[in-house]
Amino acid sequence: MNIPAPNPIPVYLAPMSGLTDLPFRRLARRFGATMVVSEMVASERFVAGNEEEALKGSEDTGGAPYVVQLAGCQADWMAEAAVRAEAHGAAGIDINMGCPAKRVVGGYGGSALMKDLDQAVTLIEAVVSSVNIPVSVKMRLGWDIQSRNAPELARRAQDLGVHLVAVHGRTRNQFYEGKADWHFVHRLVENVEIPVLVNGDIVDLASARQALACSGATGVMIGRAAIGNPWLLGEVAAGLNGRTFVAPTLSEIEDVIVEHLGLSIEIYGERKGVLKFRKHMAAYLSKLPIAQNRISDLCRLDDVPTITAGIAANVNDCKSAMALQ
Ligand SMILES: Cc1cc2nc3c(=O)[nH]c(=O)nc-3n(C[C@H](O)[C@H](O)[C@H](O)COP(=O)(O)O)c2cc1C
Repeated sequence: MNIPAPNPIPVYLAPMSGLTDLPFRRLARRFGATMVVSEMVASERFVAGNEEEALKGSEDTGGAPYVVQLAGCQADWMAEAAVRAEAHGAAGIDINMGCPAKRVVGGYGGSALMKDLDQAVTLIEAVVSSVNIPVSVKMRLGWDIQSRNAPELARRAQDLGVHLVAVHGRTRNQFYEGKADWHFVHRLVENVEIPVLVNGDIVDLASARQALACSGATGVMIGRAAIGNPWLLGEVAAGLNGRTFVAPTLSEIEDVIVEHLGLSIEIYGERKGVLKFRKHMAAYLSKLPIAQNRISDLCRLDDVPTITAGIAANVNDCKSAMALQ
């Protein structure tokens, strides 16, 4: 007899501009993230055929499902971009209502939409009615502490057919200051029947459990803590769903770093691939006992074989240091 698997608690990779690109999403997915969300894709530029935006919203060649996050403030562009993302193979569309960056908010996109829920609703309606794949909304608690309207926005989104919301437990005006308020997310959870992902300051299994306990959310979304640590999502997913997780060895970590470099070059070409890889390499290596100046030296190199040899030499030094302990 087949025993149905228990309902898994989802662990999503958060969208992060310039970081959660195709190579990183592919690794996070392989290590066990329930779902990965693209960097935000500017809807207008995507529709206009801009190559960089198309790449951000392109199909993950690993074949695993992925969500494309769209940013923008005009309903027709958002709807058209959603249609194209669906045609490219996206399994879902996420609408960005959480980005605090001035360049996004200045164009009345991202978290600026939380100041104008009627406009937010117009965008949601346009996207939901244009595609056949599920639509989610990522939001903050509100624009500022006096106007924490995420519960209302989530309710209105649900009523329009949105299938999931993700909430970063800060207001727009907090940017990344203070601590994410997982308790406030509970008010939103109480206001809707659709799944809610709690986001903000989740860094490991313990904080994931705490965020779920405080918010009552269905699952978690993890951003910054996954950089240089793409297996973190798999580790948290395993822990939350009662499975064991085997941490990677130093040799496996080295293989992943080198694979990440290879993927980056495959997708962007050698020059851009190396440039894009540097911040990931710095993040991977800074989690190991390696002096900062050695990491900085490696991040200045352009020659791929020299970078690969440098990664191997540093990881070998870590192995030797650990063997002596
Ligand atoms: C470098 C960077 C880029 C980000 N880009 C996006 C984005 O494109 N879309 C979005 O909705 N949120 C974006 N975010 C916000 C994250 O998705 C997430 O909500 C936030 O970092 C809080 O979660 P964390 O504490 O797990 O990192 C970005 C955050 C960072 C640090």
